[in-house]
Amino acid sequence: MSGLFITFEGPEGAGKSTNLQLFAAALREAGCDPLLTREPGGTPIAESIREVLLSHHDEPMCSDAELLLMFAARAQHIDRLIRPALAQGQVVISDRFTDATYAYQGAGRGIPTQRIAVLEEWVQGSLRPDLTVVFDVPVDIGMQRARARSELDRFEVEQQSFFESVRRCYLDRAAAEPDRYRVIDASGSLEQVAAAMHPLIALVLERWHA
Ligand code: TMP
Repeated sequence: MSGLFITFEGPEGAGKSTNLQLFAAALREAGCDPLLTREPGGTPIAESIREVLLSHHDEPMCSDAELLLMFAARAQHIDRLIRPALAQGQVVISDRFTDATYAYQGAGRGIPTQRIAVLEEWVQGSLRPDLTVVFDVPVDIGMQRARARSELDRFEVEQQSFFESVRRCYLDRAAAEPDRYRVIDASGSLEQVAAAMHPLIALVLERWHA
């Protein structure tokens, strides 16, 4: 038996975490109880690595350390949570996964894509999401929302150009592999975004029943 692996992605302030909860609630109503998780994080050790990655330090973190910590957290997350749940036939929804590494460490920090691909193969083997939902929002709107929400973490303090690159990378990846990705315009109201998710909920339920 093998479950369904779904990831939610998008730049800061795209509302993906709120939408993930709505999405999961709709699945539950239809009798499907998904496992919700996030990256970096998802297990106690991976959450400790998240703390190191997101908090501010007196010493600047070099890009390679950041990249390797992302994959260290991911290795733990996959081994302890994602693979066992998928093996039991569960629907797993992760708030971010490796697309975020291509967007933030690749496009944002400038690490070559090839280097990320090597780690992806090493840590994930053939594991890839079955469906990736990208919540797209113009950078200035996203940043306004993020600033209004809470204190900014180590990524959220980056410049506009960094987030423009992140956004571009998500859209390019989605365009290159339309079977796996769905892009949702997240600049509208919560109701509009929820309506845009309806066909995806139906798609997941269809695949889950299959
Ligand atoms: P979030 O959970 O609030 O989205 O925050 C996670 C932050 O970590 C976000 O700024 C994106 C960043 N991130 C990366 O830079 N690379 C990654 O591979 C992942 C999973 C997250």
